[in-house]
Amino acid sequence: MNETTSQTDSGKRYYIETYGCQMNEYDSSLVAGILEERGYEKSDLAEDADLILVNTCSVREKAEDTALQKLDSIAHLKRKRPGTRLGVIGCMAENRREQILARIPQVDLLLGPDHYDKLGSALDAGAPRRGATTGLGVDRNQTYEGFFPAAPSTVSAFVAIQRGCDKKCTYCIVPFTRGPERSRPSHDILEETRRLVDKGVVEINLLGQTVNSWRSDISFAQLLRELGRIDGVRRIRFTSPHPRHFTESVCLAMAETPAVCPHVHMPVQSGSSRVLRAMRRQYGRDQYLAIVERLRRHIPDVAITTDIIAGYPGETREEHLETLSLMEEVRFDSAFMFAYSARPGTPAALEPETISPQEKLARLQEIIELQQSHSAQRLSEQVGRIEEVLLEGSSRRDEREWIGKTPHFRKVLLHPGPEARPGTILPVRLLARRGTVLRGEVA
Ligand code: SAH
Ligand code: SF4
Ligand code: F3S
Repeated sequence: MNETTSQTDSGKRYYIETYGCQMNEYDSSLVAGILEERGYEKSDLAEDADLILVNTCSVREKAEDTALQKLDSIAHLKRKRPGTRLGVIGCMAENRREQILARIPQVDLLLGPDHYDKLGSALDAGAPRRGATTGLGVDRNQTYEGFFPAAPSTVSAFVAIQRGCDKKCTYCIVPFTRGPERSRPSHDILEETRRLVDKGVVEINLLGQTVNSWRSDISFAQLLRELGRIDGVRRIRFTSPHPRHFTESVCLAMAETPAVCPHVHMPVQSGSSRVLRAMRRQYGRDQYLAIVERLRRHIPDVAITTDIIAGYPGETREEHLETLSLMEEVRFDSAFMFAYSARPGTPAALEPETISPQEKLARLQEIIELQQSHSAQRLSEQVGRIEEVLLEGSSRRDEREWIGKTPHFRKVLLHPGPEARPGTILPVRLLARRGTVLRGEVA
């Protein structure tokens, strides 16, 4: 099949620590698949592993700092066990190569997101005498066709359908670490989905940086319909769609394919058209609101979640208030909210930071507080309804308590839970809101 399938490492153990977005989580399972084909077994502890991989993220400064600290502690481990091999993969491998090697000379493998197919040959070659074995740089043809992730332990799985990003938002490092947009062929996506269903997966979550701009021999809307026809696929989600590509036909495919969930995570970033233009987001406030309306017309009770950045360079107090007023208009179900973090190499990093760190955090706090009240209201509105809940597993706190999700991606706790297996979908009466979750009982 491919160069990585020779079984040369049976008995060895691997450990992967993953930071960053769902794409990185997916890539870690892809890498796990490559290692397991070679005979490696998964280890839950870095201390027990022969190969330790850290899958890194560069999206904000904090993400990089966290990964570097983890690498420091693993390097310490390696000094005690010199036979252990240490690899850095993901976005920082691509973006921070010199910094990583200077700070952590114990690293013997560096692979960027387009080079995981070289993992096998890098392992065959053994540890380099000096420096690290590297696979770096963007490969604009890489879609990992014919590579499939390791068997998931959950009833829900990610399926990457697109790699890279062509949008070049001014603040964002992703186009630099992951290169231009590529669509994975539809036959490969359908094949991976069928394999997942065979292993007990009932929910798939399609991944791409602008997932709805995916196109190969068929359109994204057609892909949703095709996936909806696969026996055993009970739920389909996708993340993150870009507002510009939310066409009428995608809305129709969502509305007409029963398995596609009525939830859309559509990052807005700002409520100010001036800031959105400065960010090169390719839509303005009114266009975003028009897409929200289009979604609500086709899927009346659709849940909408988002990403918001506070304190983009040059953002005025009034422009910040426009973000709050957009939030009031849309009433998002939930949001990921971030303080702007300058990423060296991006166009926005050349802009002077006009907002003090205190003011930036104060704006973020206002956004968070408003969102918390909206999230609570939206959840409370669900109380009394009966929803189909997908049972995911028992809660860590109490084995008799089940955790599940509604089609709208709302978390539900059932206590005591029913006699059932993970992956079961049951009608549940929603009884009360408890913080950010709903409590329910089988209806
Ligand atoms: N491709 C997705 C987002 C990927 S990054 C999309 O465009 O929809 C996830 C989120 O991180 C972004 O939506 C943005 O809100 C945030 N983000 C990205 N770069 C950032 C930066 N430099 N500072 C703060 N937040 C950032
Ligand atoms: Fe980054 Fe923009 Fe691409 Fe999202 S769409 S990954 S924010 S460049
Ligand atoms: Fe981070 Fe790379 Fe994802 S920078 S957010 S891991 S694409």
